Amino acid sequence: MKILALETSCDETAAAVLDGTRLRANVIASQDIHIVYGGVVPELASRAHMQKVSQVVRRALDEAGTPLSEVDAFAVTCGPGLAGSLLVGLSFAKGLALSQGKPLIGINHLEGHLFSATLEHPNLEPPFLALIVSGGHTLLVLVHDVARYEILGQTIDDAAGEAFDKVAKILGLPYPGGPSVQKAAEQGDPLAESFPVAKIKGRPYDFSFSGLKTAVLYRWRALAETGQEQALADIAASFQHAVIQALVPKISRAVKKHSLGSVVIAGGVARNSALRAAVLEAGQRDGFEAYIPAGEFCTDNAAMIAQVAALRLARGEQSDFSLVARPQMDLAGERARK
Ligand code: KG4
Ligand code: ZN
Repeated sequence: MKILALETSCDETAAAVLDGTRLRANVIASQDIHIVYGGVVPELASRAHMQKVSQVVRRALDEAGTPLSEVDAFAVTCGPGLAGSLLVGLSFAKGLALSQGKPLIGINHLEGHLFSATLEHPNLEPPFLALIVSGGHTLLVLVHDVARYEILGQTIDDAAGEAFDKVAKILGLPYPGGPSVQKAAEQGDPLAESFPVAKIKGRPYDFSFSGLKTAVLYRWRALAETGQEQALADIAASFQHAVIQALVPKISRAVKKHSLGSVVIAGGVARNSALRAAVLEAGQRDGFEAYIPAGEFCTDNAAMIAQVAALRLARGEQSDFSLVARPQMDLAGERARK
């Protein structure tokens, strides 16, 4: 079964071809136009998707050596994400499926992140614990099975990636913030500053990052006046350390409570090298196997969408052509669709 998948939920225009369990192509075109604005501008994002989508799909088919007529099913992210951006991928996928007379299936972007680690680890099967840490979400999810998800915790304010992006802005570092903060942190001392790690009463698995961001702002203002060069690196490293302290102990706690052996870390922030190291270390200490996808499968990509499509198509599911974009789609409501 050959699946062509499209992902256009935010600012990456992506297409992938999955042939059985083999990923034949994974094309990702990032949109640099947002850099000057320091964040994604929705109107520009949908326009850029419009400009790039057909070339990206063409490249994916060429790299896979798969003519369009040999594609057996078309998958597309239908939410959550930016409405205008989702619509570009959705309309394009509908057109392809209609023209080829092949099935169409809409996929939840978050479900893609949940299963992104199975691309490199095909033997990884539920149940497992998954932490999605991206620009829009911070979710701790118990994956019982495909389409059976239990959200253990989530952020009550900023997402982890959003905190990285905001802190980068405070420190005057370029967008996207995650990689810039990581780079600055490499020269700093993670214990130089003691930033707060939020604990939410009665909700052991929920997260909060807005207090941390504010603490960084005040400390940076105070230190910037002293003109110390080392201050920026130390603040970046200490902030990163506080984010890791907010995430990793909750993973260990959930693994113990639910007697799980496997943990998946997914989403853009899972690219962070200090977080990756901390999760691997916790796995060794607390007896779980950590599955962290290669960088290209952490940030938004269409391979993960194809992967979930394969699982759902195998269950006899598909979407009809009235499929709409669902910008606020969540995981809790994700059930088998027939
Ligand atoms: O999953 P993703 O590509 O898009 C969403 O679905 O949101 O995640 C993007 C987020 C951004 O906030 C970006 O700053 C963050 O992932 N990110 C990182 C790193 N690389 C990307 N955060 C921390 N460290 C990194 N190395
Ligand atoms: Zn994402």
